[in-house]
Amino acid sequence: MSSSSPIADLRTQITAAINEGHRGVARRRAARPRPQAASGPHFGPHSGETGPCLGEGRPFVVDGVPRTAALVTLGSLDGEGDRGEVTQLTRGDRHHLARRWISVAQNEHSSVASFARFTAQLLAVGAPPHLVEASCSAGEDEVRHAHIALELAEELAGLGFEFGPLETHAAYTTEGSLESVVMACITEGCVGETLSALEFSIAASRSTEVGLAERLQSIADDEGRHATLAWSFVAWALEQYPEFHEGVATAFVEAAVEASPAALEVELRDCGHEPDEALMLAWGCLPAKLRVRVRSEGLRELVAPCVEALLSHGQNKASLG
Ligand SMILES: [Fe+2]
Ligand SMILES: [Fe+2]
Repeated sequence: MSSSSPIADLRTQITAAINEGHRGVARRRAARPRPQAASGPHFGPHSGETGPCLGEGRPFVVDGVPRTAALVTLGSLDGEGDRGEVTQLTRGDRHHLARRWISVAQNEHSSVASFARFTAQLLAVGAPPHLVEASCSAGEDEVRHAHIALELAEELAGLGFEFGPLETHAAYTTEGSLESVVMACITEGCVGETLSALEFSIAASRSTEVGLAERLQSIADDEGRHATLAWSFVAWALEQYPEFHEGVATAFVEAAVEASPAALEVELRDCGHEPDEALMLAWGCLPAKLRVRVRSEGLRELVAPCVEALLSHGQNKASLG
């Protein structure tokens, strides 16, 4: 997988955005004022005790804790639209796969709130309009991702679902400096969404069901754009405030530890016994072993070179100065 094209494609896309972000800022910065720190089975309502089968995307973190909405069960779909593939699954496998997609749906749904907040933060710190526009579009993408994941969960569970309320208390305060927005963006966007894009892309390439593979690839493409937005924003902030350089470097190290394959292994240990690998892949889920390997390669071959490209600008500037 070292020559995996999703890794190469995403790396090219992100480093191009980093370079373009720096050049764009350099062109605009002369007269620009500096931004100020801104101020079947039973599927009852739950918050998802089984972890997702794919990248978590951009989480909605408040006071260090990710928030998701519980799902409300609407009732049986009475076999309506059941595909043959679903009816052939054992009850246990259906339950497990449905749980996985419920968890993906909850994460995608919470990303809508995360981007709503990020858009407001971008406005508050005076970020360039194209980043604000990209953040607004990303929120719409997340609505679609949540819908796709929920549809899959419903098909597998044979039940209708809808999202319950999402707790937004204390989530939209305007307090917080540009630096704190940048640091959160490193964890949630640069690392989280980059890895998420990669995982969806690998899942698409391994799915044997054409319709599902297309949907997964469309999510992967969107997540790739969301990741690019995050890297562009951090590049822009670094250009404005070179003194963030050290803090940004440290934040990437911390984010990489948090997202490490070892941490993921611990998280996946609580997900219970998995259906067999071929079944997981057919239903767009990455089996735990593969997911850990993708995570490891993603950090090493995708995130690390992008961090190097991002930080080398600051160093080059310092040596030229
Ligand atoms: Fe998403
Ligand atoms: Fe996303």
